Amino acid sequence: MKSGYFPVTTKFICYFKTALPFDVYLERFEGKFIKIYHKNGEHDPSQIYRFENKNISTLYISAEDKNAYGQFLSRTIDMFNHGASVLDKEKMIDVIQTSLELTFERITEQNDELDSNIQWASQQIQSSLRLMEDDLTSAIEIFKALSEDAQLLKHSYLVSLFSLALAKKLNFSNERNLMGIGLGALFHDIGHTRINAEIFKKVHLNPKEWEEVKDHPQLGLRIIDHSKGIPSDVRSIILQHHEQPNGRGYPNRLSGNKIFPPAKIVCIADGFCSLVSKASYRETIFSTDQAISMMREDIGHYDAEFLDAFVQVIAGDKKKCA
Ligand SMILES: [Fe+2]
Ligand SMILES: [Fe+2]
Repeated sequence: MKSGYFPVTTKFICYFKTALPFDVYLERFEGKFIKIYHKNGEHDPSQIYRFENKNISTLYISAEDKNAYGQFLSRTIDMFNHGASVLDKEKMIDVIQTSLELTFERITEQNDELDSNIQWASQQIQSSLRLMEDDLTSAIEIFKALSEDAQLLKHSYLVSLFSLALAKKLNFSNERNLMGIGLGALFHDIGHTRINAEIFKKVHLNPKEWEEVKDHPQLGLRIIDHSKGIPSDVRSIILQHHEQPNGRGYPNRLSGNKIFPPAKIVCIADGFCSLVSKASYRETIFSTDQAISMMREDIGHYDAEFLDAFVQVIAGDKKKCA
């Protein structure tokens, strides 16, 4: 980051045709920034477009506006899910990617080890997906279903990265295991695509709606069953990612060692990612510290040993005994 400003591509900023809740700057010459757009539409955002026409590929946002920028991207993803965004799917994928990068930055701040773990996890996912290209129909069908829901796609990718980072910490080094965990996490909530989308926008669910949500592991399994070439580990993760060691999870109330270990990993990453990033039904985004302590207080929900390892992944050794 250059002295309090971070770069954004001009092309990306030009995706948005509405008023922006952050100022946009141009680097006039080395270290000298001038404001070319005033937040909240004091000026017409079309002023920015002329810089793209002049082949200026990079613009800047002040570090002070980083949260506003992140929230704006999350809202854009929400709007896409509500059918209220004018962006096409390709642009939305860019928005998700940028929003993910901001979320990682927030979580990995001052933690170089986690940062490099996440980079490693991202490469793992890419290579797992490449391996799946042998069974192209499966990959395309599942991705088509996932990308219908921008919020779900972002959540799935985030859970996959953190699941792999935890698997690495737990010394899951076998390539087949890692591929199963990466893909299992990526597709863990695929069953959501078979549930009425309105349910996921609600803050409070009635008992009938809640039962419907709890069907998503089996619904996911049914989707995967149509796709040959999906490793069996992926199936177990989809089915068991809401099971809890205390036996209070769903769908089968499995307890302790009966739960497939990679499903316990995904359960932890899922819990964490849901707390630290924006969900349609909740405005609050918890800090990593708040999320970790909430998960620790939820005794029996998560595998205690795996959760300890996850705390080390997220916060480094200093938090181990906290
Ligand atoms: Fe789930
Ligand atoms: Fe999830």
